[in-house]
Amino acid sequence: MGEPIQPVRGMNDVLPEHIAAWQHFESCTREVLGAYGYEEIRVPLLERTELFKRAIGEHTDVVGKEMYTFIDRGGDSLTLRPEATAGIVRALISNSMLRGQRHKLWCLGPMFRHEAPQAGRYRQFWQVDVEAVGCPGPDVDAELIALSARLWRNLGLQGLRLEINSLGTPESRRAYRARLTDYLRAHSTQLDADSERRLEGNPLRILDSKNPAMQELIAGAPLLTEHLDAESRKHFEELCALLHAVGVEFSINPRLVRGLDYYNRTVFEWITAATSAQNAVCSGGRYDGLIPQLGGDATPAVGFAMGVERLVTLLVRAGRAPAPVRPHLYVVVNGAAVTERALQITEHLRDQRPGLRIELNLGGGNFKAQFRRADKSGAPLALIVAGDELARGMIGMKPLRQTSGQSECPLDELPTAVDQALRALGALED
Ligand code: HAM
Repeated sequence: MGEPIQPVRGMNDVLPEHIAAWQHFESCTREVLGAYGYEEIRVPLLERTELFKRAIGEHTDVVGKEMYTFIDRGGDSLTLRPEATAGIVRALISNSMLRGQRHKLWCLGPMFRHEAPQAGRYRQFWQVDVEAVGCPGPDVDAELIALSARLWRNLGLQGLRLEINSLGTPESRRAYRARLTDYLRAHSTQLDADSERRLEGNPLRILDSKNPAMQELIAGAPLLTEHLDAESRKHFEELCALLHAVGVEFSINPRLVRGLDYYNRTVFEWITAATSAQNAVCSGGRYDGLIPQLGGDATPAVGFAMGVERLVTLLVRAGRAPAPVRPHLYVVVNGAAVTERALQITEHLRDQRPGLRIELNLGGGNFKAQFRRADKSGAPLALIVAGDELARGMIGMKPLRQTSGQSECPLDELPTAVDQALRALGALED
């Protein structure tokens, strides 16, 4: 026997017992996105490495140390997508979909980042990514945030907190960056090793540091919001007013800078109080400069992505995940001689009642073993196909989680009898 092959660290299997929760999350999400006019797009898992370098930024953690990059057999450098925004923008450009047109798009799928795995942080993780392309906002920013708030309500998730900020224009950000770098240099003895490394390439990320020893320094740093240009300030004030108008609560976090370089103006994150680390469940912002930077016509855009594992975990913890799907019926086959009839009867019932979930006992087994399997399946009702009853044109029926005994019904009345029995057991809606 060979040694078992280990899974890749940080890459998880989603087992059947968790699928109901995932599907519930996905269907609620599809419904809300559809109701707001968003259309699904599917883009490749692999893109040219250059795309992510240009879009996300060379100095970000994602590009600098987290990408799964390799040379393919044709000699091209390719990367497993660490996020979906760059790929969607590339698709809009490649398919000539810009030219003054607007698009509201979403995409579901796995993303890949070589981070240190821990609860809520994986190397393969799923995102629902949502992008609104073609509007400068802030109305579209507000609607996107309202959409996410509605999704939490529909999912029954409570305790999610919204933080927003404005990063201004690239020019105001550059000016702020210079002031921040001066401040940090003046206090360089207080910088930890990580921050020293970031000081030249990406000083804004220092504000995101979770190191307790750095908090005093960060608290005293100049604030980005105090250096916004007039247009960005107006955009941000309007966004705040629109959020108030639709009753979405938020707090302004002037230190929210995000880990990807393409943002300008609005940035936001939904944070859960249920975990202390990896607590961002949904985050995004505006990226008006990205499309021209990737070679497309200048087009404003805004979007966000949700971390599916993190949200599904919250659903399960809140008891909001639906129970796993169980069969309605388990068909017990009494003896090899009736296997063929049992298969025929079951297939016929499937024709007549396509909505029923029917599990046919496969692979034989004695009566007791079959009933054990029937119990384990979670079905409320068993059908029993047996030689003597068949000879009389009858089939047996037995509720599995009640003491009431076995009955039988004529084979040609089976669909109606099953409906009645399942209704009586509360396992079928009218
Ligand atoms: P992001 O903040 O890098 O943004 O990721 C979005 C969400 O994905 C996070 O809030 C988190 O819930 C989840 N996430 C990120 N990394 C991991 C991980 N290693 N394990 C589990 N979950 C994770 C983006 O990706 C942007 N593309 C969002 C966006 C779209 N901005 C504009 N449009």
